[in-house]
Amino acid sequence: MKYGTRMGNAAKARTQCIVVGVYDDAQLTDTAKALDKESGGYLKKVLRRGDISGKANQMMVLHDVPNVNATRVLLVGLGKADALTGAKFAGIARNVITRLKTISVKNALNCLLEADVADQDLGWKVRRTIEAFDAGVYRFTEMKGKPPENGETLETVELFVADKSDQDVVDDAITISSALCAGINKAKDLGNLPGNVCTPTYLADQAKQLAKEYSSITVKVLEEKEMEKLGMGAFMSVSRGSEQPGKMIIITHKGAKPKEAPHVLVGKGITFDTGGISLKPGAGMHEMIWDMCGAASVFGTMLAVAEQQLPMNVIGVLAAAENMPSGDASRPGDIVKTMSGQTVEILNTDAEGRLVLCDALTYIDQYNPATVIDVATLTGAVIVALGSHPTAMYANDDGVAADLEQAGRESLDRVWRMPLWEDYQAQINSAFADMANIGGREAGSITAACFLARFTKKYRWAHLDCAGTAFKGSGPMKGATGRPVNLLFEYLNTQYRKTLAEDAS
Ligand code: BES
Ligand code: MN
Ligand code: ZN
Repeated sequence: MKYGTRMGNAAKARTQCIVVGVYDDAQLTDTAKALDKESGGYLKKVLRRGDISGKANQMMVLHDVPNVNATRVLLVGLGKADALTGAKFAGIARNVITRLKTISVKNALNCLLEADVADQDLGWKVRRTIEAFDAGVYRFTEMKGKPPENGETLETVELFVADKSDQDVVDDAITISSALCAGINKAKDLGNLPGNVCTPTYLADQAKQLAKEYSSITVKVLEEKEMEKLGMGAFMSVSRGSEQPGKMIIITHKGAKPKEAPHVLVGKGITFDTGGISLKPGAGMHEMIWDMCGAASVFGTMLAVAEQQLPMNVIGVLAAAENMPSGDASRPGDIVKTMSGQTVEILNTDAEGRLVLCDALTYIDQYNPATVIDVATLTGAVIVALGSHPTAMYANDDGVAADLEQAGRESLDRVWRMPLWEDYQAQINSAFADMANIGGREAGSITAACFLARFTKKYRWAHLDCAGTAFKGSGPMKGATGRPVNLLFEYLNTQYRKTLAEDAS
């Protein structure tokens, strides 16, 4: 989707649809008032008939409003003026784009930015609007023989800027959210590609392509041979069962001086998870094409920061492997040695995410990271615990946790902090090895995080379990959600602003 801005008299705007807000009890917003005045009280007349009152998310399309150049006016209910929260505003934006898709317009002028949102400024409203609109028109068509015709025609959305002095703020917000949306859409595309296409090799090729497109990006790929040599026995225990060679893909964005410590993102990139010898049941197994959504979100975030030219060093690592049963696959009971030197008893080969991640988390210590965040569709248990609204977050550092929580509130890509208490560690103790890769029935997401915590003691670290949030397995919205790219992008931007503030003081 293309975005632009427009100022001046809204009634004079030549557009196929002008979108204006109405508060509860038929209170018109400023632009709605202007249109009403030009049209000789037409909007108020319609409202008096009572078909629309201004309750949040109500919508009505008017055609040929007198003295208004727009062919259509889309009236949108905003609810009570003093109750318009950020979440509500974003929800309304999602419904607006859904409605705009159903009418045959090529362009539209959105005048909803003038609505005051509690605790949020204009830039915020622009960013959330663009994200909602981009998500609304996203479709995954890469695997169709020919792109299906669905009658959708919308190409351009203009944002109405009431005050000339706001122009720069809106332009900047459009630029930044366009970078972000490119990353989100890439994460969705990678996530949605099936296991026979999106292999570890495919991800490595995509990363190399990224390096070609952005001068700030360089890519290094560790092949299995090198990983063997580095002692990554845990990663290799997963990858060995597959015909597809595993890859550790290191994407570096150089935005600042080399001496500045990088923020490191590590993504679980299981391009298909059969469970291995601890085979998953057949029903629903296809959902495991999305078991690389953590890696996809890291990839998308790297694309977004490169596109944005964020003046900070960021490293993204994709731990990419396929989890297959085969004559060479790990057996339940196998004991392997990780790169850290600690040994692991593999009691269930379906708990493979932590095995590929632990070696990646050891490998990245050499970068002396400022912070490390790993992202993984790690456990079914997290879906039982939290459902699909927040991503579960664990941290060994309260500052990192607080920053992620704040980034989640700001971006609406929320996290919920879970306990990483020592008490849970006993569940993954092993009689034969230094630890087991599963911790029993109780608290499955927590014990998975506890496993990773044993490999991340040297730096400030957080773990995001996005099994419930990164994709929807079925239904009309089936597919990758692009989460938590928005969260990570917001987090990195906040870290950057913090370094700026520190440098200044
Ligand atoms: N990739 C799965 C977790 C998952 C399940 C992600 C459902 C998204 C939706 C992970 O590798 C896995 O299989 N976890 C096991 C762990 C268990 C064996 C301790 C699980 O959750 O059942
Ligand atoms: Mn698994
Ligand atoms: Zn998995």
